[in-house]
Amino acid sequence: MAAVIGGIQAIALIDVQDLTAAGRFDSQERALRHCERLENGDIFLLKQSPLLPPERECAFLFKVRQTDSRYHKNIAYRPSQDRLTGFSGSGTDAGRLQRVLRAHSQRAQQLVTKLFAPYAQLWQCDLTSFRPVEEGGRQLPLKARNDLLHIDSFPTRPTNGNRILRVFTNINPTRSRVWLTGETFEVQAKRMATAAGLSDFATQACSPWHHLRRRLTRMANSIGIPLREGSPYDRFMHKFHHYLKANRDFQEHGPKWQCEFPPGSSWIVFTDAVPHAVLSGQFALEQTFIVPRAALLVPDKAPVHILEELCGTSLTP
Ligand SMILES: [Fe+2]
Repeated sequence: MAAVIGGIQAIALIDVQDLTAAGRFDSQERALRHCERLENGDIFLLKQSPLLPPERECAFLFKVRQTDSRYHKNIAYRPSQDRLTGFSGSGTDAGRLQRVLRAHSQRAQQLVTKLFAPYAQLWQCDLTSFRPVEEGGRQLPLKARNDLLHIDSFPTRPTNGNRILRVFTNINPTRSRVWLTGETFEVQAKRMATAAGLSDFATQACSPWHHLRRRLTRMANSIGIPLREGSPYDRFMHKFHHYLKANRDFQEHGPKWQCEFPPGSSWIVFTDAVPHAVLSGQFALEQTFIVPRAALLVPDKAPVHILEELCGTSLTP
């Protein structure tokens, strides 16, 4: 459970080695506890990550540069299609980069299966990314800035209330990756969801037009037209992502804590509920998983549940 410091709920950083060494639970019990803590907003840290690529592959990654970093925030690999985006180097380098990211994705899947077994049969393996750009002083438009506290929401990949689990690995050999974290989504939503316009999305969810659009999308999908219809939940989460970044009072005066992720470490977190910002760091790998609501052990802590309780209506199909 996120730690309470001076009446404020801080995000706890759990050292996985400590937990596994405790030996208090059998492995099934331990995996359940891991999932519960993760869903409550804790961050799992592996100081000596088993996900680090071999040395020669890291040396290769340090030389990789992405295409226009204002357009592509990262280099992305889509495991389900075995496809790379955001890189325009030579064909030989693209092939090698694809192999390195594919191997990273497979290692991350094995690790998460071991640590969070209750999710393993149900999750969807989403994008893998490589982040070669120094985050300190990076120039990006406000909504794309990584150095402002935010929760994650994917505009092009609606989750319909399923959760976003991410595994980050700092492959930088000498420098930590430095984050800020804030109080959990539950705290932020109770404080700011109304001001961010939650009731408009609740109204949309109840409108006949919304149900008609969903029916048309399903019909299009059934005849092979790949339309995607984000739920009112997805649309609100995306708006809330922007709202938090633009809210100066929240950014400047809200409680926040600095976390340093050392060279060679990995950390695992539900980024749809843990506000985070990247202050500095260069060279990180990341693997995203979508964990369905049906797999959750603490469904009350899912952002969709918190929002539906606040507005009194269902925001997803
Ligand atoms: Fe993020």
